[in-house]
Amino acid sequence: MLRPIYPRKFPYIPLTDVAGEVVGVGAGVNNFKAGDKVVAILSHFTGGGLAEFAVAKKSLTVPRPPEVSAAEGAGLPVAALTAHQALTQSAGIKLDGSGPRANILVTAASGGVGHYAVQLAKLGNTHVTATCGARNIDFVKSLGADEVLDYKTPDGAALKSPSGQKYDAVIHCTTGIPWSTFEPNLSTKGKVIDITPGPSAMWTFAVKKLTFSKQQLVPLLLIPKGENLDYVVNLVKEGKLKTVIDSKHPLSKAEDAWVKSIDGHATGKIIVEP
Ligand SMILES: NC(=O)c1ccc[n+]([C@@H]2O[C@H](COP(=O)([O-])OP(=O)(O)OC[C@H]3O[C@@H](n4cnc5c(N)ncnc54)[C@H](OP(=O)(O)O)[C@@H]3O)[C@@H](O)[C@H]2O)c1
Repeated sequence: MLRPIYPRKFPYIPLTDVAGEVVGVGAGVNNFKAGDKVVAILSHFTGGGLAEFAVAKKSLTVPRPPEVSAAEGAGLPVAALTAHQALTQSAGIKLDGSGPRANILVTAASGGVGHYAVQLAKLGNTHVTATCGARNIDFVKSLGADEVLDYKTPDGAALKSPSGQKYDAVIHCTTGIPWSTFEPNLSTKGKVIDITPGPSAMWTFAVKKLTFSKQQLVPLLLIPKGENLDYVVNLVKEGKLKTVIDSKHPLSKAEDAWVKSIDGHATGKIIVEP
């Protein structure tokens, strides 16, 4: 299924999110020098992150201040930028708090994207409802969520806000929830921003567009931008955003990290260290 996205030739070194130290720069790179600490996002097509050394584009590499550890920095790129893009671009939330009040639902709020989405959403003028497993309810509350639902309870499965909120935007970070479950919980112009849109989500997207429905499903594919990466790195520096680390694995045991990731039960981010 991923053939159109991943290269057809091996070897291919997976992973796109890296943090480390510059060891050398190419011609024309004058904003970084050897020894600089950085965070970078690599292209999905080239990969290369699961390694001691990686090649990053200067436009997608940002300085890493001393307050941000390599592990905290490495957690950010895809997950925090996806949460940022979903909230700011798709849901129209202003993270300086200046926008109108919005009700947000974050599904799988304990995961990599979700835990950043809750924290970023709370920088805006929002009420945040979140879903996660029972073991993570206190954790997700500690990220700032106003109300948290256990996804295995009937109300959690129905995405029903305990205080009766209708959601203006859903940052949907898990799979397997049909449109019919979202619909009764959405405000008149509510949007579901689906970061893992499957065939049925794409169908709903098309139907809602073609019928000019006020409620929409928005499939999201991350388009990474250096300025946004810089923004989230600085939020971590300022203590306004944190990377919660599920587990750290040595590079020699990268397969353990991979298994854990595919398992789909991480709390925060899984980190591999050389
Ligand atoms: N569109 C894009 O550009 C883009 C970018 C990044 C990621 N993604 C995709 O987004 C999805 C989420 O990625 P991620 O890294 O954030 O996931 P993740 O870290 O693997 O999420 C794991 C967490 O989700 C919770 N969870 C699982 N099913 C749930 C449910 N039905 N309701 C509530 N919580 C649930 C788990 O809790 P329990 O352990 O308690 O079950 C666990 O804490 C993935 O499919 C990924 O491929 C897309």
